[in-house]
Amino acid sequence: MELDLNSIPSDFEGRRQHALNKIQDHIEAGAHAGRFLDIGCGSGNGVIAALQAGFKTAVGIDRSFTGFSWFSIEEFDKICKVYDIDAARSLMIEADIFKCKLQPKSFSCVMMLDSIEHVPNPKSFIDVAANYVAPGGYFLLDTCPLFYSNVGHHLFDDFGPEKFPWAHLRKDFTNLVEEHKVSSWSMKYFEELNKVTHAELIRYVVEAGLEIIKEHKQLPTQETMALLEENRNFLNLEGIDEATLFEDWILLVAQRPADK
Ligand SMILES: C[S@@+](CC[C@H](N)C(=O)[O-])C[C@H]1O[C@@H](n2cnc3c(N)ncnc32)[C@H](O)[C@@H]1O
Repeated sequence: MELDLNSIPSDFEGRRQHALNKIQDHIEAGAHAGRFLDIGCGSGNGVIAALQAGFKTAVGIDRSFTGFSWFSIEEFDKICKVYDIDAARSLMIEADIFKCKLQPKSFSCVMMLDSIEHVPNPKSFIDVAANYVAPGGYFLLDTCPLFYSNVGHHLFDDFGPEKFPWAHLRKDFTNLVEEHKVSSWSMKYFEELNKVTHAELIRYVVEAGLEIIKEHKQLPTQETMALLEENRNFLNLEGIDEATLFEDWILLVAQRPADK
């Protein structure tokens, strides 16, 4: 059966547009060419976006294509067609990035969108990703939210930022989880999150041989600083650099020097 735009879930459409905005806003238009790699590609929103942006081919890798209830990899060609993309330009691979071997330094752009906070070892993830960036090519990392921010627990349906900011850093978090009947699936998802910070990510990217050309991190605002003061007594902030409590959205764009 053919698909049309009405049969594409709005979630996917939103994620595709999100990926397209990131590529168009942060990778110069003249560089939208060659091979694109999306690591932790989910349902392929970034792959479609990269092809729409003008990359010649796009590869998406994800350890599992079963995380999105509506998505079936068998239908990916049809999804491409909805967006008027030739599916032959795309390749979706279901594999753990650490167990894949692609040609090193062969992609003009490698992207990791909303995935770095979900992996057990962000430094090795960045090492792997950077190794695929061609000389002169780009690495685009964008995610929201990092662990220490007020919604860094990703339990969005259970703990909203107004009522329970930094719920996961609260002294009574265990009780709250019970009271709110947070599902075991959500808690497993929570426990898989890492605690990487913006500064650590920058260091890993530089250590992987890339040069940072653009970076953004959410800074404290009057509202978020006031929110912290209202909630400080409930939180266990021991050993935490308080600047990281405001690191919600972060963006890094890096480039491999043309001669390396
Ligand atoms: C929050 S989703 C983001 C998906 C997609 N980038 C998007 O923009 O919607 C993070 C993805 O990273 C994938 N992932 C985590 N660890 C991985 C690994 N070692 N290798 C490949 N994919 C991985 C997960 O399966 C998940 O689909």
